Amino acid sequence: MSVVALSGSPSASSRSTALLRHVLARLDDGVARSEISLRDLPPAALVRADFDDPAIRRARDQVAAARLVVIATPIYKASFSGLLKSFLDLLPQDALRGKTVLALGTGGSAAHLLALDYALKPVLAALGARHILDAVYAVDAQFTPHAILGHVAHDDVLRRVERALAEAPVAWRRAGLDSPRPVALAA
Ligand SMILES: Cc1cc2nc3c(=O)[nH]c(=O)nc-3n(C[C@H](O)[C@H](O)[C@H](O)COP(=O)(O)O)c2cc1C
Repeated sequence: MSVVALSGSPSASSRSTALLRHVLARLDDGVARSEISLRDLPPAALVRADFDDPAIRRARDQVAAARLVVIATPIYKASFSGLLKSFLDLLPQDALRGKTVLALGTGGSAAHLLALDYALKPVLAALGARHILDAVYAVDAQFTPHAILGHVAHDDVLRRVERALAEAPVAWRRAGLDSPRPVALAA
């Protein structure tokens, strides 16, 4: 049982990545987890769709091994980031079949609240995902800057994360999430 987290923001100090790390941090100790920062993958390999690049292969293998895939993205131009799409394009057609997927998105305004549903979810479905948890969308105003973490999401956002995770399959929750550990919520 393992979890892979894909950070789809090009920014070093990213709200969507902060939310992603919150999800990783609240998993039980026994759950193996890894984070792939897509901005750190070789740009030329992403732009040229180099399927054989060693770092791309490693990232693909991490996705293949995961039972839960958590994907975080900023909303760019009413959709998910091009960086994320570049990586998803390098996955095999059935890369997400049999996996649970949680999508997290952050945007400047609530106007693009549904972008994860209308833009990202169809791509996840095309990759074989059939169990997609409720997406969590937050606006920039729902984050407080943090000296170490970069940003911390407000309580109402974290509650929606918990609600989404509660829909994870029983088999997965048995592996560590039956009794979620209390999460320190930001003031
Ligand atoms: C190039 C660009 C395009 C953006 N387009 C949108 C948009 O269409 N809708 C929106 O709500 N926010 C938009 N934003 C704001 C970001 O989605 C928002 O600040 C987000 O929280 C950034 O996430 P990050 O900190 O994880 O990178 C855009 C920002 C940039 C830099």
